[in-house]
Amino acid sequence: MTLSRRQAITLIGGGTIFAASAAAAGFLTTRTPTLALAPWENAGGYDDPRKRALSFALLVPNPHNLQPWIVDLEGTDGLALYQDQSRKIPHTDPFDRQITIGLGCFLEQLVIAASADGYAVDLTLFPDGPDGAIARAVFSPGAKADPLASAIMDRRSCKEAYAETLVSERAAKELAPYADVITDSDMVQLLRDLTWEAFLIEMYTPHTLKESVDLMRFGKAEINANPDGISLGGPFLESLMLAGILNRKDQTDPESIGFQKGLEIFNTLMMATPAYAVLTSDGNTRVDQITTGRRWLRLNLATTQMGLSLHPVSQCLQEYPEMADQYAQVHDLLAAPGQTVQMLGRLGYGPKTAPSPRWPLETRLRNA
Ligand SMILES: Cc1cc2nc3c(=O)[nH]c(=O)nc-3n(C[C@H](O)[C@H](O)[C@H](O)COP(=O)(O)O)c2cc1C
Repeated sequence: MTLSRRQAITLIGGGTIFAASAAAAGFLTTRTPTLALAPWENAGGYDDPRKRALSFALLVPNPHNLQPWIVDLEGTDGLALYQDQSRKIPHTDPFDRQITIGLGCFLEQLVIAASADGYAVDLTLFPDGPDGAIARAVFSPGAKADPLASAIMDRRSCKEAYAETLVSERAAKELAPYADVITDSDMVQLLRDLTWEAFLIEMYTPHTLKESVDLMRFGKAEINANPDGISLGGPFLESLMLAGILNRKDQTDPESIGFQKGLEIFNTLMMATPAYAVLTSDGNTRVDQITTGRRWLRLNLATTQMGLSLHPVSQCLQEYPEMADQYAQVHDLLAAPGQTVQMLGRLGYGPKTAPSPRWPLETRLRNA
C-alpha cells in the first residue's frame, strides 16, 4: 500500500501537520530513501554486459516488490537465474504463480536491455527441470535494439487515481498486440466493483492482511534497510507516522482510523479507472507464467511510451479459499473455459510517480 503525497493530504484533512515547525519541515525534506533508490541511478553502470543488462532487469514490476531473483554468472558470457525461495507470499500466492510472473518480467527486461546494448540473449527456460534454475542465458554480440528499451527508466506500476480521460479506441487498438484492453463502460464498472470487493476480502481476511502488513516498510530508515515490500515513505507519509496516524499496529486493526482512511483512499483510486488490461493464457504451467511476465513487462513498457499508466490489481486472481468466488467471477467475465486470467491491471492516465526501492545488484549475485 503506497500512499501518494496527494492521498496523504486527504488523509490529514488538507492540512499540514508540521506547518508550525520549521525543524520538522526541515526533517521532512530529507525523507527520500536515497540508498534504496540507488539501483535506479546505477543501472547501466557496469563493465560486464551481463551485469549491465541485469542492473536494468532488477527494475521490473514484481509482486509486493519482493525481488525474488538470484543470479549466478557462468563462464564469460552466461548466467543462470534462480528463484529466491526465501522471498514468497504464501498466503496470497500459494502456488508461486505471481512470483513466477515477476521472474518472467525480469527475463524480458534482461533481454530488452541487452538488445539496447548490442547483445542478443539466448534463453533456455527451466534447463534442469522445474526445481532447478528458472533460466540460463547466453549473451552474444550483434542484436538490434528493442524499441521498448527507451521506456525502462520511466516504467512504473501507477497506484494512483486516474483522470476521467477515456482510453480511446485508437489507443486500445495500439495495445491490442500486448493485451486485451477493456474500455466498455459496463464491463469497466463490473471490474471496478469486483476488484474492490476482492481488495476488501484481502483486507478483512486476517492471514492475508497480516502477510501485507508484515511486508510494510514504514519510513526512510526501514525502506533503506529493506528496499523491498510495500514502502510507505516520503515527507507526507512520514509526517503521518510522526503524528501517530500511520503505524503498523493500526494497519492490522480494521477498527482503527488509519485502516479505515486507507480503505477510503484505495476505494477512490480503484474506482478512478477508465479501462483495464488483461492477460490470459490457455495453460497455467510455469512456462505459461514466465511467458505472462514477459508479456506484462512489454505491455507496461508500451503503455509507458504511450503516456498511459498501468497498475496490477491481482486480488481477485489469487488462489486461496476466501477468494474462490471472486476468482470464479473474474474467470467467467474475462476468460474462455479452461483459460487462466494471469494478470488484470487498471489502465488510464495517472500522474508521474516516483520509482520504487530495489536491492542493489551486488546483493542478488551469488558469485560476482
Ligand atoms: C504478478 C504481479 C502482481 C502484482 N499485483 C499487484 C497488486 O495486486 N496490487 C498492486 O498494487 N501492485 C501489484 N503489483 C505491482 C507491484 O507492487 C510493483 O511492481 C512493485 O511494487 C514494484 O513497483 P514498480 O512496478 O512501480 O517498479 C504486481 C506486480 C506483479 C508483477
